[in-house]
Amino acid sequence: MISRRILAAAMAAFALGLSSQALAQANYPTRPITVVVPFAAGGPTDALARILSAKMTEKLGQQIVVENIGGAGGTIGVAKVARANPDGYTLSFTHMGTLAVNIALYKSLPYDSVKDFEPIGLGGTNPMVLVTKKALPAKDFKEFQAYVKANESKVQYGMAGIGAASHLGGLMLNSMMKVNVLEIPYKGTGPALNDLVAGQFDYMVDQAVNVLAQIQSGNIKALGVSTKKRLSQLPDVPTIDEAGLPGYEVEIWNAFFAPKGTPKEIIAKLNAALVEAMADPVVSKRLEDLAVVLPSKAGSTPEALAATLKASIDKWVPAVKAAGVQPQ
Ligand code: MLT
Repeated sequence: MISRRILAAAMAAFALGLSSQALAQANYPTRPITVVVPFAAGGPTDALARILSAKMTEKLGQQIVVENIGGAGGTIGVAKVARANPDGYTLSFTHMGTLAVNIALYKSLPYDSVKDFEPIGLGGTNPMVLVTKKALPAKDFKEFQAYVKANESKVQYGMAGIGAASHLGGLMLNSMMKVNVLEIPYKGTGPALNDLVAGQFDYMVDQAVNVLAQIQSGNIKALGVSTKKRLSQLPDVPTIDEAGLPGYEVEIWNAFFAPKGTPKEIIAKLNAALVEAMADPVVSKRLEDLAVVLPSKAGSTPEALAATLKASIDKWVPAVKAAGVQPQ
């Protein structure tokens, strides 16, 4: 039989445990927070994570440290966050590809995109751009399409691994153009873009945030944008839809997630810091200049992100399957 003393001690420990947990949540954060970007440094996910994290650091009063864990289309970094302690000190800034699209592209993933994460909030939606190396002999989308079809066996496109945004953009493009082109995988489109500028491969479909500066400097060519409307940053570049592939439309959302089980109070603090960061005039202007579309107030909540993730899974898993891609 349990003695009264043991029972009292257990109850005290239980009460103490609860209050220290509540205290940890009330004081959060008391030390630096790691945000895992599941792609190489210098790419779009990394750039957006760093812009938002710098402002969130000010709001939270603790440093947010971005850690790049690239490889396997983002699945390695995201899996690390899924297994992390759900205490608010390890988060992920990732995108639609790693949590929705790659469900259709891998036979098995090292995480469950819905069950293993707590959504924090959207960090914006990004248009993509079809960019080619400068020397590619095509001045517009029609010539590009004809060139790729005529040179299918030697043309190469770059992407950031199976399930990356650039993979989705490229595979939908290639599928709609009915070509089978060699993929060159990178740990992120930061390093891929360097190689495109150097003319190491022929084309890539990447988020505008990563490629705008190189397009504007004339180091690569932009032949189409992935949205239904042209971008104000590239007014002379047609949409891929209008240029020759009706129905082509791909946009990539980026967002913060925490491991499942992270306390609601901590999620609410992180969401508030993110929303404030996006409302900051300097941050929002910088992001808008990079063609990032920021979420509305209603679209900024953790619940809205959960709904966005679900809608993306419902949209892209069947679409990728219909494109005939075999899961790996
Ligand atoms: C992607 O293609 O998923 C991204 O561009 C990856 C990255 O941020 O490098």
